[in-house]
Amino acid sequence: MSQPDNGISSVLAETRSFPPSPDFVARARLDADKLAGLHAAAATDYIGFWGDLAKKELAWQTPFRTVLDDSDAPNYRWFTDGKTNASVNCLDRHLGSRGDKIAIRFEADKGGARTFTYKQLHAAVCKLANGLKSLGVVKSDRVIVYLPHTPEAVIALLACARIGAIHSVVFGGFSASSLKDRIEDTAAKWIITADGNSRGGNVIDLKKTVDESLASGGKTVEKVVVLKHGDNAVQMSAGRDIWWHELVATQADRCEPEWVEAEHPLFLLYTSGSTGKPKGIQHSTGGYLLGAHLTCQWIFDLKEDDVFWCTADVGWITGHSYVTYGPLSNGATVMMFEGVPTYPDAGRFWKICQDHGVTIFYTAPTAIRALMKLGDDWPKKYDLSKLRMLGSVGEPINPEAWMWYHRVIGNEKLPIVDTWWQTETGAAMISPIPGAMPTKPGSCTKPLPGIFCEIVNEAGVPEKGKEAGGYLVITKPWPHMLRTIWGDNERYKKAYFGQFPQQADGGYFYVAGDGAHRDKDGYYWIMGRVDDVLNVSGHRLGTMEVESALVSHPRVAEAAVVGRPHDVKGEAICAFVILKGTRPEGAEAEKLIKELRDHVAKEIGAIAKPDDIRLADGLPKTRSGKIMRRLLRSIAKGEAITQDTSTLENPAILEQLAQTN
Ligand code: PRX
Repeated sequence: MSQPDNGISSVLAETRSFPPSPDFVARARLDADKLAGLHAAAATDYIGFWGDLAKKELAWQTPFRTVLDDSDAPNYRWFTDGKTNASVNCLDRHLGSRGDKIAIRFEADKGGARTFTYKQLHAAVCKLANGLKSLGVVKSDRVIVYLPHTPEAVIALLACARIGAIHSVVFGGFSASSLKDRIEDTAAKWIITADGNSRGGNVIDLKKTVDESLASGGKTVEKVVVLKHGDNAVQMSAGRDIWWHELVATQADRCEPEWVEAEHPLFLLYTSGSTGKPKGIQHSTGGYLLGAHLTCQWIFDLKEDDVFWCTADVGWITGHSYVTYGPLSNGATVMMFEGVPTYPDAGRFWKICQDHGVTIFYTAPTAIRALMKLGDDWPKKYDLSKLRMLGSVGEPINPEAWMWYHRVIGNEKLPIVDTWWQTETGAAMISPIPGAMPTKPGSCTKPLPGIFCEIVNEAGVPEKGKEAGGYLVITKPWPHMLRTIWGDNERYKKAYFGQFPQQADGGYFYVAGDGAHRDKDGYYWIMGRVDDVLNVSGHRLGTMEVESALVSHPRVAEAAVVGRPHDVKGEAICAFVILKGTRPEGAEAEKLIKELRDHVAKEIGAIAKPDDIRLADGLPKTRSGKIMRRLLRSIAKGEAITQDTSTLENPAILEQLAQTN
């Protein structure tokens, strides 16, 4: 198996281990015995295990009798004959006992805070849900949400869920062209956006991007709801655009929920794969909610008086599961922050923790590495004494960053949960249970109860014994798994279940696309993607997407994109570009490179801007025309080529490419 060059193989030499403090264990929801009980229950009767939890933890309007229907595997269905509603689970069921409890604490980029109690959030959701109904939205309609990370984003999601509409959030950093692709793939007739917002002090013109995307396509869109949030002047298109505050002004603050089947799609969220355009990952209502809900209890030890801050934007799966559905279905207080960790200065995250009394803090390794570089003085300025546990998600965390997090933010005593999961898995899958096991820097430890993982070889055969390395697979379906790829079920089957043969018991292995090692204690160490997917600052991007964006520029004939290790971003994007016509040099080349980087930002979004663009006369190809990416990866890293190059059609090109460094 080819391992990605992400520079984290050093984790395999890691031997440190940190048990949770006795204090934490004494108060934890799950200690080692309780965790062992859950694992034993799942091992004995895996279907009964999930069925019991779903009955106990979620509010059902119609109870289910079927737990798992695998008659059409790998299209698995869970709790099929039950009916529920995600917004009722996140709001109504708390109104009696927690109506006046703060559900959301929000801080804007430029400062200024707002809060919503559960009662207020319920009313705001009902008003918007009624407003959407007045615009004609009914069950199963898709609604695009293109909003900044504000409470209104959560309100928009829950309002869609309330009436059975399927939300599809597009991260506010995506371009007009990416937005258009998503509108067209979902055939959405409604978009909810904002006049603009501020991030790190920069003004972001969301509405203008919506206008641009609708000028170039997205013909299904009939109405655009615009939240007044920034100070941007916007052009309202008569008959199409409507202000959010005007839409909700006359609406009732009660809205009967639409009871939907457990399998009813709750949302679509687009993510990158190794081929083609981003795929619309479809999640269910019942199973998804169960995963988001339970993992908050298990891995974050969530309790009544916690202030839970997951720093992810609602535009990503982490913002769906751990800003919205998971914590709210548990009746927790959620912190939301619109800005970036370093604005107005590098103490911003820690000041928020202090000012809002954050108790659980969950962020990405890229943020930890960036803040680590800025020194210990920033966090030391603030009172972080309310923090009781820390989390990490989105990419492998290198032991050095883990240790800094542990030492400086965790004061050498807080548990750190390094949670491995994906857009497709809906919720965390491999993660420490903070009061039940020791952690090791760089390891996401063990699969959660009810989740069955293996490490398999090239042929899909599980590696025997604890210590192993290979492809990470999940061997049994789980309630919060993706249901399909919107509009392309064949791609769903092929991309996730097609790599290895069907098992003797009729089941399939879900292929995560990650390489992993398992150590002698059964702990998992994720080594990164083994396909053509990059992870740049925790953002997932397909190399092919960036290549397509590059070749859509009139000067570009061919492009190959690879990742190279980066000490803050995890991976950086390196593009090798062959031009049409003569290859410029000097200032002219610089100018073109800038133009190409901006072009990619325009096509996809700023997150996809290549870090390096190297203009060359050719790419290393085999005689059959296949680009040898592993050679490009070595060149991108500045390494000498040690691989066999005898199958290359044009070996001389390697020398030229190395000089583009
Ligand atoms: O490569 C793994 C990496 O992120 C990928 C999933 O990306 P996405 O769908 O955007 O979801 C990110 C948030 C859940 C995975 O295939 N990844 C995620 N968490 C970890 C990780 N790699 C190592 N350790 C993690 N804790």
